[in-house]
Amino acid sequence: MAKQVVQPKIRGFICTNAHPTGCAQNVRNQIDYVQQTIVPQKTGLNVLIIGASTGYGLASRIALAAGYGMNTVGVFFEKPPDNWRTATAGYYNTVAFHQYAEREGLKAFSINGDAFSEEIKSQTIDLIQKELGQVDLVIYSLAAPRRIHPHTGVDHRAVLKPIGCPYVDKTIDLVEEQIVEVVIDPAIEQEITDTVAVMGGEDLTFWVDQLLENRCLKTGIQLVAYSYIGPEITYPVYTHGTIGRAKEDLKQKVDQVDQKLWQQIGGHAYVAVNKAVITQASAAIPVIPLYISILYKIMDAKGINENPIAQITRLLSDHIGLGQQPTLDDQRLIRLDDRELRLEISQEVERIWLEITTDNLPCLADYNRYKRGFRNLFGFEIDGVDYGQLVETELLLP
Ligand code: NAI
Repeated sequence: MAKQVVQPKIRGFICTNAHPTGCAQNVRNQIDYVQQTIVPQKTGLNVLIIGASTGYGLASRIALAAGYGMNTVGVFFEKPPDNWRTATAGYYNTVAFHQYAEREGLKAFSINGDAFSEEIKSQTIDLIQKELGQVDLVIYSLAAPRRIHPHTGVDHRAVLKPIGCPYVDKTIDLVEEQIVEVVIDPAIEQEITDTVAVMGGEDLTFWVDQLLENRCLKTGIQLVAYSYIGPEITYPVYTHGTIGRAKEDLKQKVDQVDQKLWQQIGGHAYVAVNKAVITQASAAIPVIPLYISILYKIMDAKGINENPIAQITRLLSDHIGLGQQPTLDDQRLIRLDDRELRLEISQEVERIWLEITTDNLPCLADYNRYKRGFRNLFGFEIDGVDYGQLVETELLLP
């Protein structure tokens, strides 16, 4: 037992602790959103979510359980509590999710470990075979900084760098809270290879091959992997950079997986291109926090902003939920970034981007919203939570 008052320990884009009650409230808020937005169904179907504890993966798990009554297997990599050290937010989110699933009579299983490893893949397959038989849907939502290759043992580290020439532009220094110039040298060939190895599609193909071999995928299975494109101002560091190269590889591999699933079990695999949102992964990408601070202000003012749970609820209700056919663009992509990339939004972002400085930051962007959103990820500054209370931090996953 470790009851304590938990205050945020934040520096820049790193927060080293999390608040269990705040995380539970985050999960509750997402469940409420789903149930107020769509008519909940009880499908009794099964889904495997890889990267299920925070951001888009957590939203997927919640939307599928709360909106579609699905049984979930979640794979993620989170730290449990250790004496007075709190667990990571994804761990507490998952504890809260399990409490919800249990109350609702939904099966929920969680595997905490490295999804890139053979060991975690085998554990997941054993669990599916034993508890569920097969899954009807797979969501691939990993955002990882490194991958130890399961066959070669090489430790690949992803980098967020431009390709070809240096990147020089504005960014927010999250520690000093100032607009500064950032200069990022272009990636060398090995860094590109490493980033593709971590965030590209090879791991997904390993998952699919092993799930197929072990007959864990139901006939007509759907698989969705998440990606990002963004507006032109972020192209040099994102879409045309190392991470963009990895996402290109992911797309190619998803297309190959689509063919394989179709031929073997009449299934399909898609990439959904989601909008920019505040998550632990996006906070680490240079330029993105400033971009999101501007974007949210514009999209909020127009009443069209969406957070992960709104995006995923739309993915399900319009594209891959029961009885839906996905609408694909000419690259075979599901586009959930359609509102973010509307011409009038991109033009407004670009105009502000040119003008923004430390002095006019509070009026041209909603940086306070970004900061609050970032703190919310770790269970802090959530409405209705009393942060003066002692709280039990030694919670256990089932
Ligand atoms: P996130 O940081 O919130 O979540 C990452 C998830 O991956 C967590 O559940 C974490 O535990 C898990 N994970 C990381 N390394 C792992 C490992 N080795 N083994 C098992 N689990 C591991 O990230 P976010 O932002 O939700 O990203 C998920 C996907 O969505 C990514 O593919 C990202 O590119 C995509 N996306 C994100 C956008 C954004 O603005 N955040 C926009 C569009 C797409």
